[in-house]
Amino acid sequence: MGRNKLARFADNQVAYNVLQRGKPQYETIRGNWQQTYFHNTNPIVLELACGRGEYTVALAEKFPEQNFIGVDIKGARLWKGSQLCLQKGLRNAAFLRAQIQNIEQFFAPGEVSEIWLIHPDPRPKDGDERRRLTNQRFLQHYRHIGKPGMWLRLRTDSAQLFHYTIEVLQSENITDLSYTEDLYHSPLIADHLDINGAPIRTKYEEMFVAKGHKIHYLKCRLW
Ligand SMILES: C[S@@+](CC[C@H](N)C(=O)[O-])C[C@H]1O[C@@H](n2cnc3c(N)ncnc32)[C@H](O)[C@@H]1O
Repeated sequence: MGRNKLARFADNQVAYNVLQRGKPQYETIRGNWQQTYFHNTNPIVLELACGRGEYTVALAEKFPEQNFIGVDIKGARLWKGSQLCLQKGLRNAAFLRAQIQNIEQFFAPGEVSEIWLIHPDPRPKDGDERRRLTNQRFLQHYRHIGKPGMWLRLRTDSAQLFHYTIEVLQSENITDLSYTEDLYHSPLIADHLDINGAPIRTKYEEMFVAKGHKIHYLKCRLW
């Protein structure tokens, strides 16, 4: 393991805004995020598969009256978002190092108001369908932790994952679906602007856009 990674893991160990195995709050936070972490009653928004947490940071900056939690299994990636929040003094953001399939271990029924999925792995092979983060299995987990009326948002460069997700959603009891296959030429880009009015863009997306990929986006109420 590189020294850089070890240094990041050491930072995560002492950062109050990273919850991970071995820290006391990791075991007790379920159902208690507002009371014991954020110390307010503001809505909780998740960025799942957050990577470096660009959205968690940008949205926390833009919406101080909401609480944001970036979730990813890779500690060296979410380190970036954690450190940025510490530098900016953003107390309404946190990072959880966990597997998304275990999300119900960390959030109680009705605890979450909204979920963002930004460039989740497309998992194009048929055999990997169950691992796609918009598979029915995952949608069930999201519903279990969500409030009635919760929003689900997906941004992806993968046309295949996008069309798969629309198909799955249309077979479910969702409402208020809207979408675009070209986000940069859609009024829906308004959902993705940072505090300065510039589009939020992750490291992954920069690579896709450079290759000429179109960015797809959808949102709907999951229940
Ligand atoms: C393609 S990257 C995108 C990261 C970021 N959203 C971005 O746009 O730069 C996908 C991320 O999902 C995380 N991931 C994939 N499956 C996961 C799972 N089941 N549980 C937790 N994290 C997962 C990976 O660690 C990786 O950081």
